[in-house]
Amino acid sequence: RTVGVVLAGGVGQRVGLNTPKQLVKIAGKTILEHTLALFDGAPEVDEIIVMMTPGFTDEVERIVALNGFRKVGKILEGGASRPETTWRALKALGAQECDVLLHDAVRPLLEPRIITECVEALKVYSAVDVAIPSSDTIVVAAPGPRGEIVRDIPERSGLRRGQTPQCFRLSVIREAYERAFADPDFDRRPPTDDCGVVLRYLPDVPIYIVPGSEHNMKVTHPVDVFIADKLFQLAAGTAPEHSPFAYREAMEGRTMVVFGGS
Ligand code: CTP
Repeated sequence: RTVGVVLAGGVGQRVGLNTPKQLVKIAGKTILEHTLALFDGAPEVDEIIVMMTPGFTDEVERIVALNGFRKVGKILEGGASRPETTWRALKALGAQECDVLLHDAVRPLLEPRIITECVEALKVYSAVDVAIPSSDTIVVAAPGPRGEIVRDIPERSGLRRGQTPQCFRLSVIREAYERAFADPDFDRRPPTDDCGVVLRYLPDVPIYIVPGSEHNMKVTHPVDVFIADKLFQLAAGTAPEHSPFAYREAMEGRTMVVFGGS
């Protein structure tokens, strides 16, 4: 049995609107609707749990009814931080054994291929991450006398950018979180994702990496709403012919890419 947990408990401070960013509309639907449609339509997923920003669960119920999503079993309120939201979801799943796919609601461009590969990988591994190579060089910063200075530049070839879903046997991620929340130090420096919790508290558990995708971006800053919109146009084949985003055709030599002109 495979459960998709859609983490939508945040407020989207960095996007900076009055409403949580997962309720922003892109390509005619809210970001949350796009994400739920993916999981509802995935043959590998049996049930979906939605963790929503406190005060907005009615909105999710409306969205589920409107779209006729059949797999959404529970709609619950998230916690004050992402780990707290995950922890609440794990507790709601109870003592059963199953596979869980924890996914950021604000990654609406996830490809079904990634879900398939994660579920396959869970037959061998009990923890699975999704990551892509980093095209930027990653710089480790340290406080300097007048701002930050470079402390280290790790070799880029070994670096990856973590995405979601992050997938686990339920007993494994539950044990990692039980240890995390029993650790008085956890709050002071919480990991930024769920694989980070497993890595810290169950370091002997190998975490397999499924290749992610550049399209599986996280809508984090205002510009990401624009980029995600263009990527949806591209996926739907409705990107304007002379948009710099129509790169598929351009790469095939069918159209000329014109930046800012005709
Ligand atoms: N998330 C959550 N519960 C929280 C915080 C975040 O479920 N208490 C979810 C978000 O809804 C999002 C995902 O975790 O789908 C990734 O987090 P992030 O992009 O940081 O979202 P926000 O916390 O909403 O953004 P910000 O930090 O700008 O407020």
